[in-house]
Amino acid sequence: MTQVAIDGPASSGKSSVGIRVAAVFGYGFLDTGLLYRAVTRAALDAGLLSSLSSQVAATGVPESDTLVQLAHLTDVDLESGSATIAVDGRHFETHELEGGDVERAVASIAAMPQVRAALRTVQREVAMRGGVVLAGRDIGTVVYPEALHKFYLDASAETRALRRAIQRGFPEGSDEHQEALRSLIARDAEDRNRAVAPLRAADDALLIATDSLTLDQVVDQIVVKVRASSHVA
Ligand code: C5P
Repeated sequence: MTQVAIDGPASSGKSSVGIRVAAVFGYGFLDTGLLYRAVTRAALDAGLLSSLSSQVAATGVPESDTLVQLAHLTDVDLESGSATIAVDGRHFETHELEGGDVERAVASIAAMPQVRAALRTVQREVAMRGGVVLAGRDIGTVVYPEALHKFYLDASAETRALRRAIQRGFPEGSDEHQEALRSLIARDAEDRNRAVAPLRAADDALLIATDSLTLDQVVDQIVVKVRASSHVA
């Protein structure tokens, strides 16, 4: 069974592209960022990050046993095609994982080695079932390096921030747009510079610079490449 790995920085289009590629082949789709976001949401709600002011990221929060335990209690259900994420039996809707508090803290939670190890296990279980597209930061390098199809999407921070603002209904140049740009740059830096599984393209990934491409064009490139190298109909 086939696995398609799509990595790249925040808002590079991995999910929008991944969902459509998965639909073309009748595969499941897992946005692995939701796992890190769910652990972060659960940690915030449990008061584990309460030492932080709302403006400060979680840098410096130690990786406690309780945090690692939350990662071990994280579960994915892909049966319905789109993924449902639960932490310790609590199911999360996507909108619960998109708040500013999650956004500020998630990269620091994702830098924790034991949290990553626990979530890697969950992701590999999904990958090993096959017939799945996984989007993330380290799918092709660490989570499932044996994937036959690896892609790395990239675009400038400015392009990505504008896409994010438009997607969320904020006018170009608005405070929210500027905040999206700041937040992306900060998260990029944390994801690229962390010691464990930093964001980078796998040596054997096809790099796609999406700045001047439409969603359809990116999807087409991936579909053509997957068909060519695996004879998937
Ligand atoms: O993709 P998304 O922006 O939702 O990811 C949220 C955060 O989760 C990222 O900034 C990154 O820190 C972390 N992440 C990761 N590895 C993945 C997916 C996400 O470290 N495979």
